[in-house]
Amino acid sequence: MRDFYFTYMLQGKKILLGISGSIAAYKSAILVRLLIKAGAEVKVVMSPAAEHFIAPLTLSTLSKNDVLTALSENDSWANHVMLGRWADVMLIAPLSCNTLAKMAHGLCDNLLMAVYLSATSPVIAAPAMDEDMWKHPATRSNITRIEQFGNLVIPVEKGELASGLNGEGRMAEPEHIVTYLEHYFSKISDLAGKKVLVTAGPTFEAIDPVRFIGNHSTGKMGIAIARECVARGAYVTLVCGPSGETLPAGVNAVRVTSAAEMYDACIKVFPDVDIAVMSAAVADYTITNPATQKIKKDHSSLVLELEKTRDILKALGEQKKSSQVLVGFALETNNEKENALKKLSSKKADMIVLNSLNDPGAGFGYDSNKIVIFDRKGQEYSFESKSKTAVATDIINSIIKFSHA
Ligand code: CTP
Repeated sequence: MRDFYFTYMLQGKKILLGISGSIAAYKSAILVRLLIKAGAEVKVVMSPAAEHFIAPLTLSTLSKNDVLTALSENDSWANHVMLGRWADVMLIAPLSCNTLAKMAHGLCDNLLMAVYLSATSPVIAAPAMDEDMWKHPATRSNITRIEQFGNLVIPVEKGELASGLNGEGRMAEPEHIVTYLEHYFSKISDLAGKKVLVTAGPTFEAIDPVRFIGNHSTGKMGIAIARECVARGAYVTLVCGPSGETLPAGVNAVRVTSAAEMYDACIKVFPDVDIAVMSAAVADYTITNPATQKIKKDHSSLVLELEKTRDILKALGEQKKSSQVLVGFALETNNEKENALKKLSSKKADMIVLNSLNDPGAGFGYDSNKIVIFDRKGQEYSFESKSKTAVATDIINSIIKFSHA
């Protein structure tokens, strides 16, 4: 049953549907029909392999637009750049394993890939493949990679597969894809005009010019939050420690190394933002006097003197205006709830996102996370373990709910 609130979200929207070679392509006809019924304008681009599964004539009839399949036809060139610029969103459904791999690595051997690579619109993909292909490490890594480029991935569904097996990997049903798009268009502007500060990653505290004290944070969670905020229309400053992850397109990125540099960057930006999410794993201690030359191993032992860093979240909490929403994280190994609530009040935050290192699949390095959110008004929200992209959506939804309550 479709949600009435979202029913008009696709009215007048320009959807560029890319179809790649998968048996699920037979559902594209139903998808086009539903999109047109919902008021969208649809243009279709197909990979050569997709034509084995569905005829362009079916899709051109349903979309009432020519279907493009080749970079050039009858001596004329298909303008892939303008197609990508025309669209409000490029939807790739079904996304085959092969096209996914090409997207992850920037291959451009057909019109669909040329359109994808030159698209300035957001790209949403609905993968479809056999369960074993879906679970293969190469596929997992390609999915992560295209998400890091800023593409959104509609979760696959479970059920009967083309192989005859039952399992995970089916393309989301056309109805579900339409619902996903309706929700997407309803939320893309809910942070429009808002300024958001996000911190991500570890900090490195220099011992000497070649060594440092750091931690295992990868920055994935903060980067996913920044990406979600950009997708929802916010102007985002991402203050990021030394992380090897690709930063999302569209953020104002400030690269820092140490806790002191992160502090300075945040203090500068904070007075001007509406929302600040401190997801970095900031060092609590730094070296009192880092050596200016490489320390030689002349002595049998070495004592390093450490001093406390300044707590960025606490400093922001002290200067926070009532119109601003300040969100911190708490990474705990024991007495999780008690410690998280202590951080909420001592740092004067509005919300604390708790992740426990005791939860399997949660914490540093994983692509998933399991969180509980506590807010200043006494609310507590528990979430299932999910991808960091989905966790970022939950966090932003909770912030929006908190600021409207
Ligand atoms: N934080 C910060 N500045 C610091 C240390 C932490 O802004 N110098 C922020 C983190 O970004 C996070 C929150 O404080 O949002 C909690 O971090 P966490 O490491 O869980 O707790 P700490 O405050 O460092 O306390 P402890 O290590 O004793 O648990």
